[in-house]
Amino acid sequence: MAQMRRDPVLMVGEGWDAYRLLDSGHGRKFEQYGDYRFIRPEPQAMWSPRLPEWDADGEFVPGSDEDGGGRWQFARDVPQDGWTLRWGDEARFTAQCTPFRHLGFFPDMAPVWEWMGRQLGDARDAETMNLFGYTGVGTQALSRFGRVTHVDASKKSVAQARENAAMAGLDDRPIRWLVEDAMKYAAREVRRGRRYDGIILDPPKFGRGPDGEVWRLEEGLPELVSDCRQLLDADSRFLFLTVYAVRMSSLSLVGLLQELFAELPGTIEHGDLAVQEDGSGRLLPTAIFARWSNPR
Ligand SMILES: C[S@@+](CC[C@H](N)C(=O)[O-])C[C@H]1O[C@@H](n2cnc3c(N)ncnc32)[C@H](O)[C@@H]1O
Repeated sequence: MAQMRRDPVLMVGEGWDAYRLLDSGHGRKFEQYGDYRFIRPEPQAMWSPRLPEWDADGEFVPGSDEDGGGRWQFARDVPQDGWTLRWGDEARFTAQCTPFRHLGFFPDMAPVWEWMGRQLGDARDAETMNLFGYTGVGTQALSRFGRVTHVDASKKSVAQARENAAMAGLDDRPIRWLVEDAMKYAAREVRRGRRYDGIILDPPKFGRGPDGEVWRLEEGLPELVSDCRQLLDADSRFLFLTVYAVRMSSLSLVGLLQELFAELPGTIEHGDLAVQEDGSGRLLPTAIFARWSNPR
């Protein structure tokens, strides 16, 4: 029976040459993405900035509507088609100022990519799945361990993910790139009796499948995680679930995993994902998570 660790775990990203959190405060953050520096809104940074001045190449200025809108304002030239960044020995991807206020990948996921690698160890024939895979940095990280199924509802994101993998020279890896609704696809895999060694899912609060299927996290998550559980067995290694921008505690996620993973061995943990500011110990929270692991 899977054991739950009650105390929360912190997974902290300390940054690397492609990404650093330089400073934060007064509802904004100052970050470095390769050679470029940006200011973006960050409601959780309620403290004061440490640095006297933020010399950024661009800033995302939000609209009056809290959930969306706004635009980038540039102080210097920034390549509009993006620029290449890397993670680890292999992963390569394009960073770009998107209208959705982020840069086309989520650097706070770096500790998760590392953690998944540790769970897979020396496996080279693992079957893994990345649900809501977006531009596929997690998929590239998984691909060194075996076959990966990358699922995202957006044709454009999947095309970008494929382009990123090609740029990394990983286009010969056994990756299935699928433009699919995550719920429908997971359910179909259960009906087909498939199994996986590891599953990562990073669902948004709200989204739409390719045929307009509506995804609402609080409504859809129990069924989706239940399907994911059915795709794992006592020989599988992990499930990693992140949730962000939702009024919810990681205790909520762990309660769901505890119920669904009762029959499997291994450990269930939960906590926060955070990014550590460069030059200070200050931590900026980015998401909550729950994870199941079953080491060999
Ligand atoms: C925030 S991104 C995930 C980030 C990604 N895990 C990473 O680290 O780069 C959320 C993704 O969910 C996708 N999405 C939204 N609704 C979906 C659905 N119903 N089925 C599949 N993917 C969906 C979006 O297209 C988007 O790419």
